[in-house]
Amino acid sequence: MRRTIIEPFRIKVTEPLKIIPREKREQELIKAHNNVFLLPSTSVSIDLLTDSGTGAMSTKQWAAMMLGDESYAGSPSFRRFERTMRRITGMKHIFPTHQGRAAEGILAITRTRPGDVVPNNSHFDTTRANFEFVGVNALDLICAEGLDNETPAPFKGNMNLERLEEVIKKYGRERIPFAMITVTNNTSGGQPVSMQNIRETRALLKKYDIPLVMDACRFAENAYFIQQREEGYADVSLYQIAREMFSHVDAATMSLKKDGLVNIGGFLVCQNDDWAQDFQNMLILREGFISYGGLAGRDLEAAAVGIMEALDPEYQNYRHATVSYLARAMEQRNIPYVKPVGGHAVFIDAKAFLPHIPPLQYPGIALVNALYLEGGIRSVELGSVMFGHYDENGVEQPSNLELVRLAIPRRVYTQSHFDYIIETLDDLLRDRDSLRGYKITYQPKFLRHFTCHFEAL
Ligand code: F0G
Repeated sequence: MRRTIIEPFRIKVTEPLKIIPREKREQELIKAHNNVFLLPSTSVSIDLLTDSGTGAMSTKQWAAMMLGDESYAGSPSFRRFERTMRRITGMKHIFPTHQGRAAEGILAITRTRPGDVVPNNSHFDTTRANFEFVGVNALDLICAEGLDNETPAPFKGNMNLERLEEVIKKYGRERIPFAMITVTNNTSGGQPVSMQNIRETRALLKKYDIPLVMDACRFAENAYFIQQREEGYADVSLYQIAREMFSHVDAATMSLKKDGLVNIGGFLVCQNDDWAQDFQNMLILREGFISYGGLAGRDLEAAAVGIMEALDPEYQNYRHATVSYLARAMEQRNIPYVKPVGGHAVFIDAKAFLPHIPPLQYPGIALVNALYLEGGIRSVELGSVMFGHYDENGVEQPSNLELVRLAIPRRVYTQSHFDYIIETLDDLLRDRDSLRGYKITYQPKFLRHFTCHFEAL
């Protein structure tokens, strides 16, 4: 056995990757109002903005796309999609959507009323925004270990069960139409959720007759962590683990742009016939007919193949090796990051990295912009810009965590790309004291991080 875990694929198609001069990067960032979301991707060299929809497809997926049947209704592509998603989730009703947030939107509109409360281990920003848009209070109930960046624990994405019970008692069953559990827990560092936690969350909710919905974006990465870390699962296949995870929930939303290994797609699945009826009506209104839900037939085909590839143990070994490679380099340099490293990204602790920048001068944005200026690397802030809020007196409140996420696209970058990222971090380490914070000069009402403008202080 060799020690090196190699990419379990070779490269058949290439895409040019350019490093533009620093001067040009400076101009581009100013044109983008210092918000990397507003940069043209052609001005980015290594794009770690997201692992969502940015992966490379396999030959089998590309081949499957040619089988796409583009009929409006009843296409065999939908049958294949439905069969595969049912095989993994065990759910009775399978609805394709164009991406995860569309599934969330349909769930929020059909199954909640204004004033309701939806607890989650941690809502992703689109999930929270979809609930808040319809007047629902979206609560994050992450376990205590999840708030501690330094101390490693195997399942830092878990739901805090005591707090969940307190919330149920406080608001009452009538105001909680369902709870959610997000695997892996993106917002808290891509941290996994244990099977035991999923099982116990379900048992607690059952006592109060509250359904559980899984946000399954990274279910295969979560299954890998369960296999590696949870007692009793070492010899269970990723597929069987995934099956069990879904068996503990009543419904699920998913962005197939993550563990579906596709560039676009999502689903909304459930067991309950009444829910399905509501979902179906809203799907037709919002997304498209039930047999395509806003996707082309070829997209359905690619997702049906991709989601099974995500459960391939060789793929997951490789995937974890890439993320760990970057984390190890951080460790060696004492760069503070969320430990242990999560499934899809390394999350740098910007508060600890840039202690001289106060939260409301957005240390995360300072680090994101420095990574771009220094190396043409695009990352994303998960801190006070993304998760901060204004209290009832209109005073801006920072987020608990100030993280910068280096999300790793699936099957896209090679080891030399990672070495380039590490060299860039070395340069940043040298002049981190000179980095300055930012102020916001424009912001929209919802999801401000995507389009707001910053000015350097
Ligand atoms: N839930 C989680 C946990 C997510 O990470 C995302 C997307 C969504 C829902 C929404 O899915 O983008 O297909 O509508 N996360 C991406 C990210 C955007 O960068 O983490 P979508």
